[in-house]
Amino acid sequence: MTLQGVKISGTGSYVPEKVLTNHDLEKMVDTSDEWISTRTGIQERHIAAPDEPTSALAYEACKEAMENAGVTSQNIQLIIVGTFTPDHPLPNTACFLQRRLGAEGAACFSLEAACSGFIYALQVARSMIQAGQYDTVLVTGAEKLSSVTDWTDRGTCVLFGDGAGAAVLQSTTPEDNGILSTHLGADGNYTDLLHIPAGGTVRPVTEDVLKQRLNYMKMNGPEVFKLAVNSMALAAKKVMEDTGIGPEQVRWLVPHQANTRIISAVGKRLGFDEEKVFVNLNKYGNTSAATIPIAFDEIVKNDSLQKGDYILLVAFGGGLTWGASMIRW
Ligand code: ACO
Repeated sequence: MTLQGVKISGTGSYVPEKVLTNHDLEKMVDTSDEWISTRTGIQERHIAAPDEPTSALAYEACKEAMENAGVTSQNIQLIIVGTFTPDHPLPNTACFLQRRLGAEGAACFSLEAACSGFIYALQVARSMIQAGQYDTVLVTGAEKLSSVTDWTDRGTCVLFGDGAGAAVLQSTTPEDNGILSTHLGADGNYTDLLHIPAGGTVRPVTEDVLKQRLNYMKMNGPEVFKLAVNSMALAAKKVMEDTGIGPEQVRWLVPHQANTRIISAVGKRLGFDEEKVFVNLNKYGNTSAATIPIAFDEIVKNDSLQKGDYILLVAFGGGLTWGASMIRW
């Protein structure tokens, strides 16, 4: 049976107005611009306003993606939001986004795979279109990480930012297929390496939780670093093998934007020339599920992509989770 083709017909992105620089952080915790820049590559990040929840960030990115795809909210049949910073624990953030967009006809759910969230969402959307169930699906990776960041912990607060990226996926002919191969993976043995200890069913929020700041992200940076390189290289290799498309043919490798040292290690391990490895985390920091779609959208806007160009997306995140996808523009 020949599967339905799936194409990305429009992209969009959004970061909030407020910029927090490394120099601003020097006034908040015991750190320096020099430490942050050399250890991570980050120079500044954007921080959402108090009245700007995740669905508001996603809304701006989705609006742009829909305009670029030439579709209206009435055309959207399904909305998937990749996030681990939902507007509320209940109901799911995609419902808040649906209301903002006025996309009443759409089914809505959120999906949680931390920084791999967008690639996971892309694969779910792709499979549902391939199965013939939907024609037009809106996918977004959106995070308000500032709401789960411990602004007194210099080990984590310098790393993260807020933002959203989005893509409209539509069915097309098998010949025009634009998502060639996707690989997803996870290893639940590493749940403690990057987590928020409280606020879920294991440990609901209590006064004690707040006192101990257990409602914020905790991370074992050096361990995450090692596993990130391995898991991203493994996932990217899988989709390159699957499609027979190697570093020479790929126009852009778009890795999750967490740390420039991780990004260059992955690029080197996979045999990519440095100029093909996309980096923008200097401007945004790590926006988790939003890094890949924001980067993708920047490439679409700034690089004159030709029909048929290959873009390799690869991410890893808390879970651990990882994923890669080979896109043909
Ligand atoms: N400013 C100054 N010094 C600092 C800071 C800071 N902001 N943070 C840590 N340090 C200090 C440490 O206390 C330590 O000091 P010590 O040697 O006196 O004990 C020293 O710097 C080195 O600390 P390390 O943690 O070993 O530094 P490292 O070089 O590993 O860099 C970093 C830390 C940047 C966090 C790195 O490990 C990293 O990027 N890891 C991957 C993190 C990541 O990608 N996370 C996102 C996952 S995606 C998701 O799902 C959200």
